[in-house]
Amino acid sequence: MSSIPTIIASSKAPLQWQNFRFYTNSYAYLDDLVRCYGETFMLPLGGSQSCPYVFFSNPQDIRAVHSLDYGEFVMENSLLKAIFGNGSMLLIDRDQHKRDRKLLSPPLRGGEIRALGSLVYQRTIKVFGEIETGEIFVASRVIRKILLYVIVEIVFGKQNDQLYEEMHCLFSKLLTLITFPGDSLIFFDLLRVNLGVWSPWKRLQQCRQEIESLLQREIDQRRQQKKLDSRDILSLMLSNSKQISDQELVDELFTLVIGGFESCESAIAWALYWIHKLPDVKEKLLSELKSLPRRADPMEICNLPFLGAICDETLRIHPVFEYASPRLATSSVKIGQNQFAAGTVLIPCIYLVHHRPDLYPEPKQFKPKRFLERRYDYSCEFIPFGGGKRYCLGYELVNLEMKLVLAAMLSHYSFQLVSHQTVKPRRRGYVITPSGGVRMTKVGIA
Ligand code: HEM
Repeated sequence: MSSIPTIIASSKAPLQWQNFRFYTNSYAYLDDLVRCYGETFMLPLGGSQSCPYVFFSNPQDIRAVHSLDYGEFVMENSLLKAIFGNGSMLLIDRDQHKRDRKLLSPPLRGGEIRALGSLVYQRTIKVFGEIETGEIFVASRVIRKILLYVIVEIVFGKQNDQLYEEMHCLFSKLLTLITFPGDSLIFFDLLRVNLGVWSPWKRLQQCRQEIESLLQREIDQRRQQKKLDSRDILSLMLSNSKQISDQELVDELFTLVIGGFESCESAIAWALYWIHKLPDVKEKLLSELKSLPRRADPMEICNLPFLGAICDETLRIHPVFEYASPRLATSSVKIGQNQFAAGTVLIPCIYLVHHRPDLYPEPKQFKPKRFLERRYDYSCEFIPFGGGKRYCLGYELVNLEMKLVLAAMLSHYSFQLVSHQTVKPRRRGYVITPSGGVRMTKVGIA
């Protein structure tokens, strides 16, 4: 017997075709689905109809899904398991989830994050200063160097240049493997098979193992040094390590490092694209930056309204994740008018709520002004970081990094896009990125 009410519509197209469309161009496919079936519909992600996936784009329904409590759902995501490991925060539940969130939250909050402001700002000036005038570069690759450096400091502590170099090399290799030979490779169960040394899946697993060994080496060294008094995440976790196995620790570190740069890299690259694509947006931002005192405090920069509106509009129009973590209902739940049986996977669709014309008129246009003119409800209308018990742990870091990287770049140097052609969204593993990473050239000093 189907565990889903018949009123939830779905496409009758073959499953593999639906998956193909979703993984190759999810934004366009989601637009088509909402046009054909309305704001709530089924989409069998992963190619299986035995586990019904229901996508929600009505704000009230999304609020209801976000409000579900431990006991009403567990996480469901076989793809993330393959990349992040079973011990990742993205996949654990209940007591284990509460334990890890409690451990990981303090270093990613408030004063700890604000203290990183000048590191982000100065690192940006240094990294972009190394680019010659007239040189063409791929913005997302350069931004990666900044963000990875920052997350290595948060997770492993200060001044770890050698570790940063090793991580940069291995994580860049991992991202290349995720996108080779096709951007959506890892999404298809059939392709996630080990066909020997040269098969993409085998090479991806080998690369993950290399990263695991590197992380394990850091854990062992830190234990030997018996120096667990610093505020970095590894020290905090090790001082509670009686409750956590080494494998769980490795999976959490892996999640934080890759989560700590990959998604934000894409968001900043998109913001740079829009700022340089739309001259009036750029002009308004530059004049706001010029209004700051010469040695402005990073927090003053973070409070600039138009800069903040550009970051919000970027995360609205191109949410890095088109949907929040899928929640598998463990008991029957009522969302809006519908009762869903246990076994239904409930998915708040970030992309679709961000593209509702009733909330965001002309949703395909980049208009930062809308965030200055209207206050959106962050629990259900503007949800780039998801919501409820699974709300993104890195949102404060993202807010700081997006604003300070953009401000440092544009206050010190000037840039332009190499081409004015429209940049299309493209999947890189589980993240939606600007196709080609946004090619830019440095024009000179600002
Ligand atoms: C633009 C950048 C980012 C975006 C758009 C983003 C978005 C998200 C979203 C949508 C979720 C799922 C929330 C839900 O299901 O309700 C999530 C979860 C998470 N994010 Fe982020 N994220 C970003 C950057 C980061 C960074 C920098 C970190 C860490 C340093 C991070 C750590 C996490 C963690 C640990 C979770 C799992 C939370 C849980 O399940 O309890 N994220 N993020």
